Amino acid sequence: MAENNDMSKQKQLDKFKVDHNHTKLTTAQGLRVSHTDDSLKAGERGPTLMEDFHFREKLTHFDNERIPERVVHARGFGAHGYFQCYEPMTEFTKAKFLQNPSVKTPVFVRFSTVVGSKGSADTVRDVRGFATKFYTEEGNYDLVANNMPIFFIHDGIKFPDVVHAIKPEQHNEIPQASAAHDTFWDFMSNTPELTHMIMWLMSDRAIPRSYRMMEGFGVNTFRFVNSQGKARFVKFHWKPKLGVHSLVWDEAQKIAGKDPDFNRRDLWDAINKGDFPEFELGVQMIEEHQEFDFDFDILDATKFWPEEQVPVQIIGKMVLNKNVDNHFAETEQVAFHPGNVVPGIDFTNDPLLQGRLFSYIDTQLMRLGGPNFHEIPINRPVANVNTNMREGMHRMTIDKGRTSYSPNSLQNNSPQPAAEGEGGYVHYMEKVDGHKIRQRSESFKDFYSQATMFWNSMSPPERQHIVDAFHYELGNVLDISIRQRVVDLFNNVDGELAKEIAKGIGVNPPAQMGGTGVTASSPAISQANTVKSPATRKVAILADNGCNYPEVKQVVDQLKQAGVHCEIISKYQGVITAACGRQIQVNRNYHTASSVLFDAVYVPGGRASVDTLLGHGDALHFVNEAFKHAKAVAASNEAVDLFDQSEILGVRLAPLDSRAQVTFDMGVVTVRNAADLGYFGEEFLAAIAEHRHWIRLAQKDMVPA
Ligand code: HEM
Repeated sequence: MAENNDMSKQKQLDKFKVDHNHTKLTTAQGLRVSHTDDSLKAGERGPTLMEDFHFREKLTHFDNERIPERVVHARGFGAHGYFQCYEPMTEFTKAKFLQNPSVKTPVFVRFSTVVGSKGSADTVRDVRGFATKFYTEEGNYDLVANNMPIFFIHDGIKFPDVVHAIKPEQHNEIPQASAAHDTFWDFMSNTPELTHMIMWLMSDRAIPRSYRMMEGFGVNTFRFVNSQGKARFVKFHWKPKLGVHSLVWDEAQKIAGKDPDFNRRDLWDAINKGDFPEFELGVQMIEEHQEFDFDFDILDATKFWPEEQVPVQIIGKMVLNKNVDNHFAETEQVAFHPGNVVPGIDFTNDPLLQGRLFSYIDTQLMRLGGPNFHEIPINRPVANVNTNMREGMHRMTIDKGRTSYSPNSLQNNSPQPAAEGEGGYVHYMEKVDGHKIRQRSESFKDFYSQATMFWNSMSPPERQHIVDAFHYELGNVLDISIRQRVVDLFNNVDGELAKEIAKGIGVNPPAQMGGTGVTASSPAISQANTVKSPATRKVAILADNGCNYPEVKQVVDQLKQAGVHCEIISKYQGVITAACGRQIQVNRNYHTASSVLFDAVYVPGGRASVDTLLGHGDALHFVNEAFKHAKAVAASNEAVDLFDQSEILGVRLAPLDSRAQVTFDMGVVTVRNAADLGYFGEEFLAAIAEHRHWIRLAQKDMVPA
């Protein structure tokens, strides 16, 4: 078996890397090029000559530079890292990378959106992909996950239908990266198995604040198998150390214009700053004899296993600590496949999983141009590879010897199959017996119970966001009969929900209040119960000439200590001069900054600075918008005047005559007449950690921003 540690994949990749710095330009044949700015012509104003090999080569390569984008998950962003298990998992699986806590297995992760094309915006309402390739000593293991624990459909054969319905419409290719159009809701309203997934898609999960703040779910049911051949059903989870946090829809739409690369930039910057994202790997396991103990079918991918019923056991962690050197070579050419498993991990009869096992390699043959894409550096295992597969487009390996078949006697019957004890993969011996039928199992046909459970589990603001999302999505559906069908369908989930949806989209509420009668909830799926931390959050500091330097310094130092990143925003880039004469570097002006690109806003005091901001619509808009999006906002001393003049209404601010008492109301932190901002900084940090202050429900809706 190949030796493996966190650097082994990087060492392998290094062999393929070329640094062009301090080199001479050559052709692809290695011939030095003397001139690359003009083609070879017959006379200064004459025609270009055929014999200009440099012109031909340069243009031909350029003309063929594009490869097909992925049929789904086209837009993605990748990073390298490592995985380490916490305890040997010997009792449950023989997978080698889950045995030894001192081994760091290299990984490559690609996060993605599903529907949009490669150049679409990051912050659209969509499922996010979360695919991980573990380069283990036993070969590559791919955990091809999403950020929602369930899926749209039961059976792989419906995948082309759901994707055709949600992608831009056939006749005009509109809209891009959005479900908010007739064909999707037409399909949806005729396919009730989508109901539960739509609840997740309308929820805040579909607009993550960061790839670093999303969960990942293997969705399908797999098997763990130990060395005695004992199997258990297993579902995989990634839990982000920073908790699960989302944007709000108005913000997500604005970011799509201000910075369409918002999520990829966030990941890239975090890794460059040393804020390495961490995710813990968790597993839910069900004993084989418990297969039928649940009120859902454990092979149905439209159902999750509530954590309260089947606890998630945390078994290891992944750290992403290196950005790619070349997006195309690594992130675009990486090829994941749920069928890439190692001994100790096996499949189940989950019909969605069975469909996936066919699709990935099939699509990659076209996308990556032939059958040798496993040789592309990012896809190469660190384990040794010895096959009898030969030839095909772009074969890299030079296979020595005469034979490429098995058995052979000319080459010692090599490469030889390995016995199970030597690491040979042996499929789990499941007994299968049945008639050949095209039929859906009756046990898959409860479309609504878990959708109700999801609704029951949401906090009031989460529920409001779901209703708002329905209003947006269905408000964009032109055919009113489709809107009505959707309302009638969701009446099966919850009558109140259906009524609320109907209200916003001009259709009739259900004639009779429906619902499943399910009262159970799963607190684990509400983002209200997630981890909260200010670490790695971004704060905008609005200041101008005459600001109070000691205030800025004290607050910035305190935030930095908690791992928060600050940027100074002013009218002009360059420097501003504080009241004391100190110069402060400005990071962005109001053209390049926007409140939607930050988690919180702080305005320091200083009479002249605050007076300038008061006359500046952009500064006021910045504060209003952050407030509207329920973010932490803080002002010290004279800067509280700015909040007084803003749309921050119905919130207590530090009174004019107050003496350094910090006022904290609904995530708005203010103080007046204070020299020391230590306690103010602490309260601001607590407000940032909260992520959003939904308690402002009525107040924020008043803001016209
Ligand atoms: C039968 C259902 C499904 C089919 C047929 C299917 C098919 C595909 C195909 C053809 C691709 C493009 C692969 C490529 O070009 O390299 C893809 C990508 C992907 N799929 Fe699925 N998929 C299905 C369900 C799922 C589910 C349930 C999940 C989540 C658990 C998922 C997660 C992903 C991810 C994360 C990617 C992007 C991988 C990357 O970053 O390159 N898919 N899928």
